[in-house]
Amino acid sequence: MPAATENGQYLSAAAIPALLKQVADVLKRYRHYWQFSPMECRALPWQAELNAQLHGLSLDELATIDQSPALQLAHFGDFFPELTRLPLFWQAASQAASVAKTPFWLSNGINGRKLEQIQQFCHFIPQSNLPVLEWCAGKGHLGRLHAAAAKAQVTSVEWQAVLCAEGQQLARQFQLPQRFVQADVLSAEAETLLQAKQQVLALHACGQLHLRLLELATQVGTAALQLVPCCYHLIPHEQYQPLSSLAQRTGLILSRQDLKMAVQGQVTAGERIARLRQTEVTWRLAYDMLRHNLTGISQYQPLPSLAKHWFSGHFADFVAHAAALQQLELPELPDLTPYLTEGAERYMLQQRLDAVRHLFRRPLELYLVLDRAVFLQEQGYQVQLFAFCDYQLTPRNFCLHATRAENPSI
Ligand SMILES: C[S@@+](CC[C@H](N)C(=O)[O-])C[C@H]1O[C@@H](n2cnc3c(N)ncnc32)[C@H](O)[C@@H]1O
Repeated sequence: MPAATENGQYLSAAAIPALLKQVADVLKRYRHYWQFSPMECRALPWQAELNAQLHGLSLDELATIDQSPALQLAHFGDFFPELTRLPLFWQAASQAASVAKTPFWLSNGINGRKLEQIQQFCHFIPQSNLPVLEWCAGKGHLGRLHAAAAKAQVTSVEWQAVLCAEGQQLARQFQLPQRFVQADVLSAEAETLLQAKQQVLALHACGQLHLRLLELATQVGTAALQLVPCCYHLIPHEQYQPLSSLAQRTGLILSRQDLKMAVQGQVTAGERIARLRQTEVTWRLAYDMLRHNLTGISQYQPLPSLAKHWFSGHFADFVAHAAALQQLELPELPDLTPYLTEGAERYMLQQRLDAVRHLFRRPLELYLVLDRAVFLQEQGYQVQLFAFCDYQLTPRNFCLHATRAENPSI
């Protein structure tokens, strides 16, 4: 592994716990700027200067700012100076050689972005003679490319039989030393998958799946791990249970909703998707106002997630469906235009609230990754934290590299 650098691209062992405390402090201090539900708000709740700045921005400007970390800081950095001091890992610690170098026959069937992510991930896998375990492998594209490039023995664990079969077929076709094990990593049988003399690779393993890996690997003392976590909110508890004793002591309490916000950054939402989303939120808010008028209950009552077709038809049909879902008896439908107007105003308000809330998405994710990093340190691992690829390639670009202290050269 490359050595730690000053600019925060690689975080060294000593810097990790210090940064965890720093990020937790920032998140706690600014809690009322991000830890709330925008659907519940009727007005901007912050200081006059910040509210005025938000009122001066159009919907298009808010959308552009939301997509750009640099613009976010340019517009709002002065209100939150501590945010500008956090290393937020937007750029890869270093770049792999060109994607074109992977033989086409090996990368056939992997979509372009995923292929680049895998190449970047492989770029950071240190050489070792250990057998490799690929955790929650899908079709095992990562394991296959690594088996070919490093001549490594790879075992790929995956739950879905179809994906195992397809992956195994590809490995056989290219005569690669990769075998698949179909298993549920959350079950008791998964305990036998982890060993001490092993190198584990996990790319985009969702919430509980990577927590399970950390639990099992630290129990047996697996020699080396390279993990890119994702979907932190996919856990069985309503409230986040910090892993490290250091994070437990920070007193930062996170709901599953907060964890969801950490992964809501979208790099490539197309214009059509963005428009549909705008309609969806506007209609949900407009319907909620109607419900409020009919029931007298002002508190926002969320609807479940709904198929997209409801938001490309007529508002009146959506209202009838939403009312049926909430067992609300509708009188003859009133004129819905004022509700739509108010829904649009509240949508605008929500974008302004989100412009501020979203400043804290990345620090929140950083905190969650650092918790995993410190936990591994507490279990006797040497840990490095870095971005394995640019944020633009995938927002889930945090990578943890951990080796047992007795094997620091891996
Ligand atoms: C987000 S995908 C990542 C796949 C691959 N690592 C990649 O980066 O493309 C997560 C994978 O975990 C698998 N999975 C989900 N639950 C699982 C479980 N309980 N045990 C094993 N694999 C599971 C899914 O089927 C899916 O292939």
